[in-house]
Amino acid sequence: MKILGVSAHYHDAAAALVIDGMPVAAVQEERLSRRKNDAAFPLAAIEYCLEQSGLEPDDLDAVVFYERPMLKFDRILTCALRAFPRSWRSFPHAMKNSLGEKLWVRGIISSHLGVARRKILFTDHHRSHAAAAFLTAPVRDAAILTADGVGEWAALTVGHGTRGPGKTAINLLREIRFPHSLGMLYSTFTAYLGFQVNEGEYKVMGLASYGRPAMADAVRKLVKRTQDGAFRLDLDYFDFHTSAKRSFSDKFVELFGPPRDPFDPIDLATVDGRRFADCAASVQKVLEDILVDIACALHRETGLPDLCLGGGVALNGVANARILSESGFERIFVPPSPGDAGCALGAALYADRVHFGNPDRDIPDHPYWGPVVDAAALAGLARQDDQPVEELEESALIQTTARDLFEGRIVGWMDGAMELGPRALGHRSILAAPHTAQMRDRLNRDIKHREQFRPFAPVVPVEAADRYFEMPAGGARLARFMSGVFPVRPEWREKLAAITHVDGTARVQALERGMAPRLYALLEAYGRLSGIPILLNTSFNLSGEPIVNRAVEGYLTFRRCGMDVLVAGQTRVTKRVPAK
Ligand SMILES: [Fe+2]
Repeated sequence: MKILGVSAHYHDAAAALVIDGMPVAAVQEERLSRRKNDAAFPLAAIEYCLEQSGLEPDDLDAVVFYERPMLKFDRILTCALRAFPRSWRSFPHAMKNSLGEKLWVRGIISSHLGVARRKILFTDHHRSHAAAAFLTAPVRDAAILTADGVGEWAALTVGHGTRGPGKTAINLLREIRFPHSLGMLYSTFTAYLGFQVNEGEYKVMGLASYGRPAMADAVRKLVKRTQDGAFRLDLDYFDFHTSAKRSFSDKFVELFGPPRDPFDPIDLATVDGRRFADCAASVQKVLEDILVDIACALHRETGLPDLCLGGGVALNGVANARILSESGFERIFVPPSPGDAGCALGAALYADRVHFGNPDRDIPDHPYWGPVVDAAALAGLARQDDQPVEELEESALIQTTARDLFEGRIVGWMDGAMELGPRALGHRSILAAPHTAQMRDRLNRDIKHREQFRPFAPVVPVEAADRYFEMPAGGARLARFMSGVFPVRPEWREKLAAITHVDGTARVQALERGMAPRLYALLEAYGRLSGIPILLNTSFNLSGEPIVNRAVEGYLTFRRCGMDVLVAGQTRVTKRVPAK
């Protein structure tokens, strides 16, 4: 059976193709259109998926959209009516932005792809999140927790999943509905702190480490716990449900002070700078506490050792690590793409296993479902541009690259199929030596052009992770796709200054050899030279741009920034030193 999953029209549009129960291709539209967080109907992503398997749209048995547009419409209309007349300005905006073309999705899919309308199906937004987390994880029975901004109505769900030779089932037991949403709470602080919503949440988490949760009690006024273990937002502090312009209210500003101007730098030497860091630390702490409580209750209720986490909130690696150590679950599975892009794959898998009742299959445990890089194209581009190109056999390439890194060069590393999801996990990465703060500052300044307070992540062979990082039991699994933040062991912090955050932690990727054998070999070779088999691994993109996909984007990025070496396949490109 051939099933195409599609997510679109909010943020992070994507397509995924599942054939006979196995994913064969999945990619975010932004990687192909080159528009960051592209939410448009993912025609290029769909075309890639179909081409990849030699299919025509007519060959598809089903196209599954990742949420139910009419329910979403119902939510937007209901909220607008409840808030009338304050909402009269925001309603058309919400219709245009959040819903827009979505209402007519069946017609759009049918007319774009020429697929019969009867073949077009819809899943619930949080069921897609749940499926993306549970059906891709190597577990048969697991508790499921999903949390995001909002889908149709649900903003958080708990449940459990079972799969195996019998029937696959995903039972979502309870949900918390919009506007009571942890994602919206966090996004409101993201906006208040002057960062872009749906993009700047990482920055809030990074900034949190510089502050103290001194305002946690104030944040708790905004989000009240209910007797049944859930929570409610006090809507007097928010405007996101009634206004298109601002997500926090005047009362919010009375409580926390004036918001940060996005154009002002954050200076931690000033009172305001410290206040913003404390705000970030406080909302982070409250979010963690609530998630830990909900996960504890879910663990008690299900008695299961494994938890699958989905939705955009599962990108919060600090919260994930606390859930692991405090909730009672032994292992936590966060997919490489827990946000809406991953819902394309989740929706397709859900339709296959549950709607059509097809047999259960184990999904390969990796994130590499995108286009494969063409090393010959890279060599061609560099030659045309008169830059030095070498073709090396594998062991020479690994040794040479390890030496490049050891000698302080920054390496663009493109290998095989691109990752699905926001993190570079070794196929579209910028790699560098992890030892000095100067390297971190150089990367921030010359390559990533981003805020100084944002940390870089390390990649380490899974067998060596515990030597350098304080990994709790189950930590390696959470670190498989860089989904957990763990302390760097104090004795290594100085030698790992480029990847150690101000609070002594790191967002570790613990790499198993089989997942990315070439990067693993590079870590080993680098370890032989430096004594420490760890590299700094950050996504291969410049600030504000999507992660590079093809050789041409890798090459243009390489030429536009302070990167020294670019590797794809067996091809190694360097920069000609200008004649003096
Ligand atoms: Fe979502």
